[in-house]
Amino acid sequence: MEKEKLSAKENNERKAGDSRRDFLKQSTLLSALALTPPTILKAAESQLDEKVAGYFEKAAFSLDINGKPYQLNVEPRVTLLDLLREHLGLTGTKKGCDHGQCGACTVHVNGKRINSCLTLAIMQEGKKITTIEGLANGDDLHPMQKAFISHDGFQCGYCTPGQIMSAIACIDEGHANSETELREYMSGNICRCGSYSHIIDAIIDVKNGGGKK
Ligand code: FES
Ligand code: FES
Repeated sequence: MEKEKLSAKENNERKAGDSRRDFLKQSTLLSALALTPPTILKAAESQLDEKVAGYFEKAAFSLDINGKPYQLNVEPRVTLLDLLREHLGLTGTKKGCDHGQCGACTVHVNGKRINSCLTLAIMQEGKKITTIEGLANGDDLHPMQKAFISHDGFQCGYCTPGQIMSAIACIDEGHANSETELREYMSGNICRCGSYSHIIDAIIDVKNGGGKK
């Protein structure tokens, strides 16, 4: 009991000591700032401004998107998804979460699927990007697009471009050998409408040579 009382007292003393130390640290910092000559403060401020401005300075780079070369001049902080949608008007690629969690923004970079919301456009300099707009050959849809239509692989359609891009990659990666494997490798693509079983049917159909009509 006595021991408990003592440790509570010790605790209070320690807390009081901590807040005294915090108070002293803060007042020393404030006094130091007050005593810093305005010229030095101004210089530090402009250095910071320059650094921040650097993030907004546009950078020139090139990308191949759906077989077409693009010379770009955008801020380095622009994601590939925002470049496609906001700068180039390629709105087929959808923004669901913008955090790498829904797969709606899936595109191919050099043939591999990625979430375009998770990469900066400038990081893909010189690479080949394929979006949903680049799949069809004129009016002739890609077999995966045809299969999604014939199997009713969508309802509202918002997730569909990402699902189709992932589905094509899944087959190319060799991850379409069974329904279970497909469900696993398509699990990064979320469908709020719950069209999953029809999506799987469409992919299996294409894997087996369907989706031609
Ligand atoms: Fe990119 Fe959701 S928008 S994963
Ligand atoms: Fe509506 Fe997938 S079809 S979210």
